[in-house]
Amino acid sequence: MSKTFVCPRSQVPANGMIECEVEGGRKLLVANSGDDYFAYQAMCPHQDVALCEGLYDGAVLTCHQHLWQWDIRTGAAVGLAEAPLEGFPVQVEGDSIYVVAQSTVNSTELFAGIPDATLQAIIGLAKREEVGGGKTLYDVGDPSHDFFILESGRVEFLIGRDQHMSPAGFMLRKGEVFGWAALLENQPHRIARATCLEPSQLLRINGHQALELLAADPAAGYVVMRRLSSLIARYLTSSGSK
Ligand code: FES
Repeated sequence: MSKTFVCPRSQVPANGMIECEVEGGRKLLVANSGDDYFAYQAMCPHQDVALCEGLYDGAVLTCHQHLWQWDIRTGAAVGLAEAPLEGFPVQVEGDSIYVVAQSTVNSTELFAGIPDATLQAIIGLAKREEVGGGKTLYDVGDPSHDFFILESGRVEFLIGRDQHMSPAGFMLRKGEVFGWAALLENQPHRIARATCLEPSQLLRINGHQALELLAADPAAGYVVMRRLSSLIARYLTSSGSK
């Protein structure tokens, strides 16, 4: 288990919050509540707005842009908010605040709870990639060989054609899967442009090889395909509502 220094505890106001940049350029929001400290994604999961510019009363964080709110102890959405915050386990040692690294594939919604042998085989296919901010991972029409799991950072999706691209209306959270055309039959090309908005860490998994593993374990395959269909429905609903 690795840990990354975030900031001195003394820099975080009592029942207040600050934005910190950690090694590698990633920004985090660090908040204090009583004796406890919490670390979350620095940007609002709705749009590109810094959460440190919002309102915080020591218990509930409010984004000033459209008033989405979150419980600071859990990151859970409150009231109008449609998505939770991505949180990072915090460790405090003396005056130093650290975040502790977590495994991602096991906690990915798509694969949660499938038999361990199949899960481990899928993990064995994953290749970790560091991608710079501003880099386009794939564009509309590119071949869809691989799907991805976001480990850290932010990925934006644009849909449309040529000069008429517009935001798909959602941002991914840690552990979410994208590029899922690679898991669909008769979908050999990308239908969106995916761009990393900041330095991001991804797991790249070959779709064809993953499907072969799932075909060999039909119970796991059934679970994953059901989850995939609801994931797609959720993204389509999200895109259509913006
Ligand atoms: S940008 Fe934060 S709630 Fe809309």
